[in-house]
Amino acid sequence: MKKTVVSGIRPTGNLHLGNYYGAMVNFLKMQEEHRCFFFIADWHSLTTHPDPKMLKTNVKNILAEYLACGLDPKKATIYVQSDVKEIAELYLLLNMQAYLGELEKTVSFKDKARKNPSNVNAGLLTYPVLMATDILIHNADFVPVGKDQEQHLEMTRNYAQRFNSRYETDFFTLPQPFNFGQELIKIPGLDGSGKMGKSEGNAIYLIDEPKEIEKKVKRALTDSGVTEPNQPKPDYIENLFTIMRVVSTADVVEHFDRQWNRAEIRYGELKKQLAEDIIKATAPIRTAINDIKANDEYLNHIIDEGADKARQSASKTIREVRQLMGVR
Ligand code: TRP
Repeated sequence: MKKTVVSGIRPTGNLHLGNYYGAMVNFLKMQEEHRCFFFIADWHSLTTHPDPKMLKTNVKNILAEYLACGLDPKKATIYVQSDVKEIAELYLLLNMQAYLGELEKTVSFKDKARKNPSNVNAGLLTYPVLMATDILIHNADFVPVGKDQEQHLEMTRNYAQRFNSRYETDFFTLPQPFNFGQELIKIPGLDGSGKMGKSEGNAIYLIDEPKEIEKKVKRALTDSGVTEPNQPKPDYIENLFTIMRVVSTADVVEHFDRQWNRAEIRYGELKKQLAEDIIKATAPIRTAINDIKANDEYLNHIIDEGADKARQSASKTIREVRQLMGVR
């Protein structure tokens, strides 16, 4: 059975290796099997008051990157959130199912309010309601989410459930987290500290030029080498091997594994090879990103087509919800 899948991304930066080998590779599989909606959450990003020109550019950048990675507008519905006004309407209606006490207790809200006490706006408070709307507007079965978004998905289920029981209907599906399980590859950062991320400042971006990639890999954390054979690798070295297992051939990985186990590891050689293989793996994507970005007409066409498809699905939902709630 085809399932409905919804996923959104805020237009706040570029995609990095971690995004690609993590979520994106799975999105490519999902678009073959399911009814997928992938959208750019530009309304969500407004909580931080981004510069309007920057926001517009970022929306197109992310879209170009999505397409360059292989998301296919013929298979999935790819759209910009603010093109679908039905989302704003459902957001208003769902706000009636969301209680202030719960919203104030949301982890992401408390975090952001603490970090930025001068900008605790109502949009930030009701961020989870807007996210619930994104999901319920297409009556999604599954939402691929990371740990930091799990609470938002739980709130989505609460609103859906509340709506259903208040209006004596089973209209809204209660969406479940899409679990990639074993298949989710986690790409570590180059600084030895856990995950690759844009806020961590340890990322290699898909748009990075070869020179930039070489520079970043060269700077990756290592040490003065091992002295004993067959030692376990420290985390920051294991991280380099993890990336290598994704971008390099099995021979290359074996070669450096052998070096390590013989206590003959040469980090200079390893980094040179790793940079080369990252460049090789990402070059076609980088070329595609630049080609697509240069073709504004094509991008606009994709945006319009996606908006039409998303609106079709959204307007069906909103019509039903209006009727159930007794509004016109
Ligand atoms: N809140 C998500 C994030 O910051 C982005 C997002 C908005 C989203 N709406 C969504 C993700 C709907 C999944 C489904 O990463």
